[in-house]
Amino acid sequence: MSSNRDEPRIALVTGGGTGIGAACCRELAAAGLQVGIHYNSSREPAEALSAEIAGAFLLQADLATKEGADSVYRALKERGGLEVLVNNAGMTVDAPFITAKLTDFDRVHAVNLRGTWYLTKRLARLMIRKQYGRIINISSVIGSTGNPMQSIYGMSKAAIDNLTKTVAAELAQYNILVNSVAPGFISTRMTADLSAEERDSIMRLVPLERMGTPAEVARMVRFLAVEGSYCTGAIFHVNGGIYGG
Ligand SMILES: NC(=O)c1ccc[n+]([C@@H]2O[C@H](COP(=O)([O-])OP(=O)(O)OC[C@H]3O[C@@H](n4cnc5c(N)ncnc54)[C@H](OP(=O)(O)O)[C@@H]3O)[C@@H](O)[C@H]2O)c1
Repeated sequence: MSSNRDEPRIALVTGGGTGIGAACCRELAAAGLQVGIHYNSSREPAEALSAEIAGAFLLQADLATKEGADSVYRALKERGGLEVLVNNAGMTVDAPFITAKLTDFDRVHAVNLRGTWYLTKRLARLMIRKQYGRIINISSVIGSTGNPMQSIYGMSKAAIDNLTKTVAAELAQYNILVNSVAPGFISTRMTADLSAEERDSIMRLVPLERMGTPAEVARMVRFLAVEGSYCTGAIFHVNGGIYGG
């Protein structure tokens, strides 16, 4: 593949073994990128996906830790850097605000917020060397709207959207574009445990009257990774009409 600096070559998708991340890996591979599939605990699905995608490579790391992010940095550096980073790894612990635990706050923020901030900081150096980069942060509509039971998660996603804006402003000079994709309610493992009542009440909020698919989110990610050359510092909502920004 060409080393032309205007052509993305290697993409890393964190949490790429499952759900939205796996769909992003498929879309980016279909767009001609070599895809690094990062996973933490989902080894089997990540290996199966890697067998499905020509040229894909696997990276295991716990991104809640500095060591995990540093190991991803070293692996990408050895491969000559990367052009596209999709910060998709994330988790939630839902609880009423009044009873939510500090330990859960720390667990969620270690991955969603501290982990995203630190990994991006490290990998951005590799993009600066290339004077080219596309960073796509998977946030959430909840970061914009808030949601009962999701004070911890919502704060982390609002912070990611803020990170997008600041890093976009700082890195534009290096031809590195930074955007958020904020999904609404998407059918994945993360939403699989919703009760029938919760599902019904969510559906009442969605003008399109259905949950989204991981592929519908991944197509927006693909656009920002390989087209979107005048988009930076923005939040792209993919939510069936719940919220438009
Ligand atoms: N589903 C939705 O409705 C929805 C809506 C808005 C935003 N999102 C966001 O979309 C992203 C993907 O979620 P999903 O719905 O596809 O659910 P998912 O399948 O549970 O994906 C979450 C991913 O995050 C990774 N991850 C979690 N903790 C990690 C850690 N400590 N270190 C490294 N990776 C870690 C997981 O990797 P392993 O499985 O390998 O551990 C997993 O692949 C998340 O950021 C989520 O907040 C989802």
